[in-house]
Amino acid sequence: MRRILFIGAEALPFAATGGLGDVLGSLPAEIQQAGGENVDVRVIMPLYKAVSDSFRAQMTTIYESTVRLGWRQIYVGIRALKYKGVTYYFVDNEQYFGRDGKLYGHFDDAERYAYFCEAALSCLPYIDFVPDVLHAHDWQAALAIIYLKLKYKGDWRYGRVKTVFTIHNIEYQGKYDPYILGNIFGIDEKHLGLMTYDNCINLMKAAIECCDMVSTVSPTYASEIKDPTFSHGLHHQLIKEQNKLRGILNGIDYDLYNPETDPVITAKYSAKAPAKKAANKKALQQELALPVRDDVPMVALISRLVSHKGLDLFTPIADKLLEDDIQLVVLGMGDQNYEDFMHGLEERHRDKVRSLILYNRDTSKKIYAACDIFLMPSKSEPCGLSQMIASRYGAIPVVRETGGLYDSIKPYYEVDGEMFGNGFTFANYSADELFERTNAAISLWRDKATRRKLVMKIMKTDFSWGASAEKYLQMYDELF
Ligand code: GLC
Repeated sequence: MRRILFIGAEALPFAATGGLGDVLGSLPAEIQQAGGENVDVRVIMPLYKAVSDSFRAQMTTIYESTVRLGWRQIYVGIRALKYKGVTYYFVDNEQYFGRDGKLYGHFDDAERYAYFCEAALSCLPYIDFVPDVLHAHDWQAALAIIYLKLKYKGDWRYGRVKTVFTIHNIEYQGKYDPYILGNIFGIDEKHLGLMTYDNCINLMKAAIECCDMVSTVSPTYASEIKDPTFSHGLHHQLIKEQNKLRGILNGIDYDLYNPETDPVITAKYSAKAPAKKAANKKALQQELALPVRDDVPMVALISRLVSHKGLDLFTPIADKLLEDDIQLVVLGMGDQNYEDFMHGLEERHRDKVRSLILYNRDTSKKIYAACDIFLMPSKSEPCGLSQMIASRYGAIPVVRETGGLYDSIKPYYEVDGEMFGNGFTFANYSADELFERTNAAISLWRDKATRRKLVMKIMKTDFSWGASAEKYLQMYDELF
């Protein structure tokens, strides 16, 4: 039996801020299912204050001790529960994780996640789960791989552990001033070369160097990040290590995102019987006090409002798009200028636009269920989950051909009555192309028969984890 331990900063349904949480909340169970008795997959994450009391009530304390980090000796508690048949371990430390508000973005993140990685590694023999594969996700877990190599490998109990490092977004690398190397990370000066890149400590760079395999969340992104346009400076490192670089497309949680059972949407529907989707549109129009009409296409944008998500393409064409008879619903928060723009857009088009400057998962699901067309014009996108969720809820995606968007959405066309593709796509990072493709999607939507056929095809596209879980198992096999 092969033991796999996922380590990462967030997982649904316990605590999450983005796509990483979706993945760590669903992929482990999928790998467990695909591997059956041949694998034992577990997950370790911090016990944030945001983890609800009902989950806490299900946890048992399985280990308590202290851990050394630099000169500090710090409490560690390990709690555990089972979710979807997978054991989740939680590293408990009030001082680091018992805080209100955001999960990360605190002044002492370097110390918090160094502690998390050290605590996780040090407890493994005592919780009786030293894995065959330590699978670390993003910069917050990078030090687990680095510490394993620098400090733990000499201990016979850890000697055989193989490591995988998955990049969910290369933009966030964990960069710090070199002075914290000894003081905060407890790493000897002699490893400065390994730990630094461009005169900064760079945790992602060091993890890429130390691990046995690097993966990222789509095949296209795996090749893009070897290019300086996408790499945020790490292309040299990735070119050097390209033999151990893999790209595996994410899936989505088919239980969590299921219009047939979703408890937060008004009317349930499926690819076989999509007609009831209309009732969700009506409900949202009522809730948002938009004109209640089923003959107007509802376009949605659910995103962080930042330029690399394509907001700088969307803003110049928004008013022009709204000259047409459409409705637009925006959900998300981000940079002030984009938030202000969305407010202004709603002011200028009160009968057509609603800008919800907030983030709430339930609201997002209501919008996915209500909307007809979903925009995702990202400049770069490691994988992207929203285009898959939108598809499952029967919205026609309009995406830019990059990263996982390119791998998951293929352009629609028809030859002799046969339909190909599952959305609208454009290649260049150009506002005109976004405008043109969005209009193409709107015109298609107005043709009822074609719309029905395409929406059904889109809803049936397989974005479940099945195939990808197998690919992870194959990648683990390559390590031995
Ligand atoms: C990050 C990426 C996103 C990806 C997600 C899960 O949030 O930006 O594209 O889908 O991680 O891997």
